[in-house]
Amino acid sequence: MKTQVGIIGGGPAGLLLSQILHINGIDSVILERQSRDYVLARIRAGVLEQGLTDMLRAAGVGERLDKEGMVHGGVNLTFDNRIERIDLEGLTEGKMVTVYGQTEVTRDLYDARDAADGKIVHEADDVRPYDVETEAPYLTYKKNGEALRIDCDFIAACDGFHGIGRQSFPAGVSTEYEKVYQFGWLGILSRTKPANHELIYGNHERGFVLCSMRSSTLSRYYVQVPTDERLEDWSDERFWEEVSQRLPSDVAAEIEQGPSIEKSIAPLRSYVTEPLSFGRLFLAGDAGHIVPPTGAKGLNLAASDVHYLSKGLIAQYRDGDESGLKTYSERALRRIWKAERFSWWMTMLMHSFPADGAFGHKVQQAELDYLTSSKAAMTAMAENYVGLPY
Ligand code: APR
Ligand code: PHB
Repeated sequence: MKTQVGIIGGGPAGLLLSQILHINGIDSVILERQSRDYVLARIRAGVLEQGLTDMLRAAGVGERLDKEGMVHGGVNLTFDNRIERIDLEGLTEGKMVTVYGQTEVTRDLYDARDAADGKIVHEADDVRPYDVETEAPYLTYKKNGEALRIDCDFIAACDGFHGIGRQSFPAGVSTEYEKVYQFGWLGILSRTKPANHELIYGNHERGFVLCSMRSSTLSRYYVQVPTDERLEDWSDERFWEEVSQRLPSDVAAEIEQGPSIEKSIAPLRSYVTEPLSFGRLFLAGDAGHIVPPTGAKGLNLAASDVHYLSKGLIAQYRDGDESGLKTYSERALRRIWKAERFSWWMTMLMHSFPADGAFGHKVQQAELDYLTSSKAAMTAMAENYVGLPY
């Protein structure tokens, strides 16, 4: 088989890249290790920056998003038994975020690729990129035990944190930067009305809490837990009790409790590998970087990578202009590091760090008090939360 761009990974990054390339007359094939049902069963964050919603609309996948997405002009912070709202819209000249599950974004992208007869190979085993430093790279993979090959001009590795793309860089080329946090997020999905019409990020001595949502009848909650916590030890009752204790009492009183539909624990990590390209192999999305979920930047960063990479590929095919691809890594990394900084900052501000003792907690309270009373500080947070420009 032959294609112009071979894409490893059919998560949001790979699908969005493939769809944008298609709209610009560039052919691609996606090789995805899992089945479609498996990919669509993954529950991930769902706060979309305006840059991403604009991209989805331009890619022809904005219809359901515009109908079902919940546009939020603000976000709430709780601390010291208070709730304070950050007016995202007012502080950023009208920018907002849209709450719409990543699973739904992925589903819409699959539907769009299907409608355009896009080629996606699911359950592609043992995918490997070769000859990426030449002008004729190719991918090999196995499907139902048969060994297959795709010749392409370029390879985009959109294969997530555990993907093969990053591992295919030759030894000595990459520098990795990592911070692992000593806690995770225990999350549940429940068929209950959201605690508030906007999100609530809570700082409390017992640990961080987040009240989020998927729709007016579906809520998503998270609490900070130690990394070694066992899911079996968390009954729904214990979870709701913990959420309530970590919120101001008037906020807790508004929470509708109900059985969990899904419950899971995710570790928190900050990670970046540099550079994001080697020869004709390009990393995009979680393949190149991870942010902790505080601030919901993961999916949005995958989208900004796809923006830079697709622009580079389009300029290459349309005008023979190599500059966008040559500078892809550098341009994408500048934005990635700013989102890494913001996600790290919000994580450090909102979580409990027992090793820092009561002093650490007092400093967090002071910072939150300052943040929510200074227009300059709130504006800095709002600008980052709604998404820095591409
Ligand atoms: N071969 C083929 N496919 C692979 C391989 C491989 N060796 N390794 C991983 N994959 C697939 C995974 O099964 C997954 O479907 O690549 C896809 C990567 O998707 P994501 O992990 O969703 O990453 P990405 O598309 O970059 O999306 C970033 O999703 O992971 C969240 O927090 C992240 O919200 C962010 C967003
Ligand atoms: C979510 O709804 O899953 C969510 C929202 C905001 C975050 C992280 C996760 O910062």
